[in-house]
Amino acid sequence: MEKRQELYAGKAKSVYTTDDPDLLVLQFRDDTSAFDGKKKEALARKGMVNNVFNAYIMERLQDAGIPTHFEKRLSDTESLVKKMAMIPVECVVRNIAAGGLVKRLGVEEGRELSPPTFELFLKNDEKGDPMINESLAETFGWATPAQLGRMKELTFKVNHLLKQLFAEGGLMLVDYKLEFGLFKGEVVLGDEFSPDGCRLWDAKTREKLDKDRFRQGLGGVIEAYEEVGRRIGVIFPS
Ligand code: CDP
Repeated sequence: MEKRQELYAGKAKSVYTTDDPDLLVLQFRDDTSAFDGKKKEALARKGMVNNVFNAYIMERLQDAGIPTHFEKRLSDTESLVKKMAMIPVECVVRNIAAGGLVKRLGVEEGRELSPPTFELFLKNDEKGDPMINESLAETFGWATPAQLGRMKELTFKVNHLLKQLFAEGGLMLVDYKLEFGLFKGEVVLGDEFSPDGCRLWDAKTREKLDKDRFRQGLGGVIEAYEEVGRRIGVIFPS
């Protein structure tokens, strides 16, 4: 497999073509952004930590029957993935109230959400990733009802698997965002799963161990990501 030209550079990852038209290389960079790209900083080791963390999670999910775009980790900061047609809809599940939900509805942060909530957002930085629903997604052709149904099913399966995995490490999976794409007509989990796209709290102290440390300027961002990884069995290269 040969890495060829850069296809696209996102806020934290760059995507490269390969000599296989069905495969891409994801390069995890140290760049960190929040608030739709308004706050930006490079955090040393972040590319490596998120790449290794994501590879571990994607392998667990794949083993449990979730179709993912992940093929294999190539290096400290690169992974090989299937080339998909991305669906521009973000799926968010919340087990505990935090972040946007607290701001929007005024519910108390930390309140348990039973059953967990499911929300859709349009992937569009310029518009600040507005909240959408199934009707809008269908009308504007972002995803079909069948695709949305499958995305919801897979997002909740991921919740079941990862809540358990993190609980074993003394962590609460507060909320998370997933993105999907189509590979040969099938809905497949794409993007990444790392502390950049979810909230994780220490189960006892409720200390924040995710990107909220960056958003809120709490410091120790990468140390927290590594701590979370170690608690669930991720082995980081030294
Ligand atoms: O975190 P924020 O206030 O922007 O939005 P949220 O709706 O509370 O986010 C819910 C979960 O999805 C959090 O774990 C976010 O980190 C994640 N998320 C993300 O990774 N990317 C987005 N564009 C929006 C949310």
